[in-house]
Parts: sequence; structure tokens; C-alpha cells
Amino acid sequence: MRLPEEKIDEIRRTADIVDIVSDYVRLLPSGRNYKAISPFNPSEKTPSFYVSPEKQIYKCFSTGKGGNVFTFVQEMEKLPFIDAVKWVAKKVGIDLSQYERKSAKPDDKQSEEYELMAWAAKFFHTNLNTKEGKAGLDYFLNRGVLKETISKFGLGFAPDAWNRLCEEAQKDGKSLNLLEEFGLIAKSEKSEKHYDVFRNRVMFPIFSPAGKVIAFGGRLIGDEKNSPKYINSPETKLYHKSEVLYAFNFARDEIRKKDEAILVEGYMDVISLHQAGIKTAVASSGTSLTPEQVRLIGRLTKNVLFIYDGDKAGIKAMMRGIDLILEQGLSPKVLFLPDNEDPDSYVQKVGGDEFLKYANAHKTSFLDFKIDVLKSSDGFASEEQTQASIRDLVSTIAKIQDELAREVYLKSLAQKLDVAFLTLQNELEKVLGRETPKRATPAKILSIPKEQAPPAHTSEKQSLPSVAERTFLKALLESLYHGSEVLEFVKENLSLLTFKHEWTEKIARFLLERYEAHDKQTAFEVTNELNYLNDEDVRNYISGLLIDEAISERWQPESPSIYARRCLMAFLDATKKIILQNYDDALLENIKAIQRESDAEKIGTLITERNRLVKAKRDAEAEFDQTIKSLIGLY
Ligand code: CTP
Ligand code: MN
Repeated sequence: MRLPEEKIDEIRRTADIVDIVSDYVRLLPSGRNYKAISPFNPSEKTPSFYVSPEKQIYKCFSTGKGGNVFTFVQEMEKLPFIDAVKWVAKKVGIDLSQYERKSAKPDDKQSEEYELMAWAAKFFHTNLNTKEGKAGLDYFLNRGVLKETISKFGLGFAPDAWNRLCEEAQKDGKSLNLLEEFGLIAKSEKSEKHYDVFRNRVMFPIFSPAGKVIAFGGRLIGDEKNSPKYINSPETKLYHKSEVLYAFNFARDEIRKKDEAILVEGYMDVISLHQAGIKTAVASSGTSLTPEQVRLIGRLTKNVLFIYDGDKAGIKAMMRGIDLILEQGLSPKVLFLPDNEDPDSYVQKVGGDEFLKYANAHKTSFLDFKIDVLKSSDGFASEEQTQASIRDLVSTIAKIQDELAREVYLKSLAQKLDVAFLTLQNELEKVLGRETPKRATPAKILSIPKEQAPPAHTSEKQSLPSVAERTFLKALLESLYHGSEVLEFVKENLSLLTFKHEWTEKIARFLLERYEAHDKQTAFEVTNELNYLNDEDVRNYISGLLIDEAISERWQPESPSIYARRCLMAFLDATKKIILQNYDDALLENIKAIQRESDAEKIGTLITERNRLVKAKRDAEAEFDQTIKSLIGLY
């Protein structure tokens, strides 16, 4: 899809970044801006993430990331730019169908890849309605999966044959190499021929958070002894297992609404729960829970309910998951189902309402769960085992990010185990003490720093523009919200300006180029221009300048025109400094040279040079003052 820039800008203007961001984090008013715990760093304690409703810009001072609504969606939904634009368009109800390409030729490499996965999903899905796919359809129907659920989840069937997918791909002109890369087909070592990887299996497409097919899981329908029950796509360009939760795309809105996510083990668990109306269920299918997956949930809710199998493997997985969830500042609970039930079988048996009733009545805190597990595995059988178990429990409590919550759980543990609170507190201090260096990092930033910290991923050495250049940029950028006179001025006087910092140069040139090319009938908006700035570090820096309260508070606008005037004055002041800086540098060199020199004649030459510089500086200053008179007249 190719979208004209005007359309992209229209979408951006229609969307309110505050609305979009507040789907991910809770925003609190803070002066002219909103602030929140950074969605990029959810474990931070002090909010470092700012959103400006006026400028429609965000900036995270802990990770350095900043930009406009599109870059935010790119970041959160892991989408390429154009898909983020489409995502926002959909959200605000702007129809883009007229731009949809009718031809089969994909825009770029990545959409070819997504398209191939969608094609494969369609192949598997339509198989269900063929003779050879009847076994697959019957399998689902027998397990109580309704037709509409089959459609919603795009379920399908891979036929009991060696190369049906290969044949279909050749017929439709699909790339066998790409199919191989995505693990759907493989090459035989002997014959060098391709064959299907998924055979005689019901197929579960795995979706990206944005709802695109990126992988598959396939389950045996027979009971072949020497083949695994499930096989899953390998890690690919599209499928990063550790970052994907099965059905997250379907569950997202409901998780936010219900303020709880249910975490289950299997594809069928998720599907049956959703079918029964419990649409907060997701699964970390095929991997044990990862920090990235927890972060995905953490943007929507703090409450996670584990409903894993009650077997050894399930319990072990939950024990690990609990620590992970606590570390990310979320709050885990655990539900055990009646013996020999998993969420799928139980919800199919009793229905959604009963299931929820049972869940509410039986879910336990992570602490009770852990105590029970330890008890049932002889964790308190001897004094030695008891000590080890208590240490284990305290170390889990130590993972809790919130100090008050930590204390409350510790109190509760003291009561439950009849151990003195102070003893447990000592133990906790020990554990925390060990971890101090690790926990100290995220909370460092207490307020917006005066000088913006460098983005986390740039090297520490990355120096920032000087105060003069920073003020120049800030004022230039701010002025663009009031018109383009200042930018025009920069254009005319560019030859006078030499910037010391690469970013200042880059930003000025970028703005001028874009300004030259832009349609003069429409406003030239900085927030919009961020779409076209390819250097992420520079974009992050600009976002910080625009949102930085350290400056804008001083410039608290009495009225827009006074504000604009202040921008201009600050700009001119900074510009003058930048221009005169060259002379000052030269004068400093000159003085140093004079001090080093002992030859009288050479000193004489240097002094002549000095006088010339002083005069040139004065002339430049006068000329600059002259030039700006015209500009000030405009305001
Ligand atoms: N799994 C896997 N590979 C396996 C076994 C399991 O990837 N060899 C993953 C699948 O995502 C599966 C989940 O682990 O859905 C849970 O496995 P299991 O409890 O064995 O299966 P169920 O989900 O109960 O599947 P079913 O009800 O179809 O037997
Ligand atoms: Mn099952």
C-alpha cells in the first residue's frame, strides 16, 4: 500500500496520541503534559514517560525514546511504519481501502512474507471443507469447537500427504524457499526435493499482536506413537517466540476491560475459553513464559491468573512464572482445576459462567500457592527443609517491586508460617541487599533532567549539542507551531551558521529540505515531519526538546503571540551565539598563540590578526542585528 503524505498526516491529526497511549498506560496530568510509568520500561518506579496533547508527541526519559503517534504504535505493536499508519487509521475509523493495491505485487519484502503466511493459513483452513480435510473438521467438532470459532481462529488442516502444500505453492507461484525458511516445508537430503512438514495435523495459526499470521502449531489427530503431539514453526523473521502470546490479538481489548489476563498452557485451552466467552485467555504455547510475554500483558493489566495443568510440569512452570511476573511489577494468582481437568476440558464440561464462578472461588494468591506446593513436596518435613523453604518464599517476595506490597506479603508469610516478622525482614534485607545494584538502575530518573540524557542505546560517549545549539533547535522547533518565519530566516542565513554538533546540522538541513519540498498551501508541522526523519536518535532527541518542561515552563505562554515572540527572541539569541562562536573560537586560538610565541615580529602579526578578528566579530554582530530587525517586525 502506498499512502500519500497528506493522508498519513490526516490520520495523524485525527488520532489523539493521548487516547492511543492511554490504551497502554495510565496517564496522569502533569502541567501541560501527561505523565506515566514508561510502557517501554514498566518496572520503573517514577514516571518518566511524558505525552504532550498539544504537540501530539511523547518522550520517555528513561529509555530516551520519543516520537509521534505512529512511532509509538510501531514501538508498542512491533509494526513497520506503514502498518502502524494503517493500525491508527483503523482505530480512528479512516477508510484506506481505496489505496489497497489490487495487483498481487506486494509493496515490500515484509508484506510478501506476511502474505505468504496468510496464503498458507488459507490453504489449511479451506482444507477443512474438502474430502481429505474432513478428518480435521471432525476432530474439531468432536472436541466441541464450533464452526464460528474455527473461522475466528482460522483453524485448519494439513492433509495426510507428503507434498500437498508444496504442490499448491507451485500452482500459486509462491516461493518455496520462503516456505522452507518459515518451516512449513523442508528439503529431503537424499532427493533434494521439498516435502510438507505438517502432515495429518490440525493447524493452529499463530498471530502477531496486530493479528497477522506469523507461525503455526500443528496437532496430531491420530495417535502416531513416534511423532510429537504438537509441532510448532521454528523461530523465523516473523516469529519471535519469546515475544508472542497465542491469541493476544483476540484477547487484548478484553484483558484491558476486565483488568485481568488468564494464562493457560495450550492452544485448545485458549480456544475453548474464548468460545465460552472468557476472552481474556492467552497462552505462551510452545515456550515457557518469557519476560517479553509478561511485558506484553503488563501494558494492559497487572493481574495475571495462571490456570496451568496441575501436573508436575505445570506446577514447575507456574513457580517460575510467578517470580517472572513479580519481577515485572505484576501480580500473579493461581487457579487449580479439579483433578484431571485442563481449562479446555473443564470449560467444555461446565460452561463459561460456572468456570468463572469456580475460578473466583478457588483462585489463590501466589504466596498460598507456593506454600501449598512446598508443603506437599515435604518442604516443611524437617527443620532444615523448613529453613530452605522459608528462604525460597522470601526470595520470591523479594521480587515484588512495590515496597508496600512486599511488606504486606511478608507480614502474611510471618503469620502463615508462625515465624517472627523481624526475622523474615532480616532475611528479606539480605536478599535485597544482594540484588541492590540490579534494582537501583531503573528508578534513577526522578524528574525530567535539565539536559536530556542520551538515549539508552546510543553510546555513553555520545555528546549532546551545546546549550546555544540546543536553545537554537528548541526555539526553531517551537516556532514551527506558530508559522515558518523563523525557518525562513534560517534558510536565508544558513551560510552564516556553522553548527558544532552533527545533530543540529542534521535537524536544520532536514527541516529545510522538507520545508522546501512541502506544499505551501498546507501547514508545515513538526510532529508530522517526524514521520520522515529516519535517524532514530535524532528523532528521540527532538521529541525530548519539544516536551522538555525545563524550558517550556519558563516560557509559560501568556498568549500564543507572546509565546511565539519568546521563541523568536530565544532563537535569535541562540543564533547570534552560534554565529559569534566562530569568532570567539578564533580569538581564543589567537590568544593562545600569542602566549606561546616569543618572536616579536610574529607576535605583531598575531595582534594584527586579533584586531581583524575583533572587528569582524563586531561587524558580524552589527549585520546580524540589522538582519533581525526585519524579522522582529514580522511579530
Ligand atoms: N506443546 C508443544 N509441543 C508439544 C507438546 C505441547 O508445543 N510436544 C504446547 C502446545 O502449545 C500445547 C501446550 O504445550 O497446546 C500444552 O500441551 P498439552 O497439555 O500436552 O496439550 P493440550 O493443550 O492439553 O492439548 P490437547 O488438549 O489437544 O491434548
Ligand atoms: Mn488439553
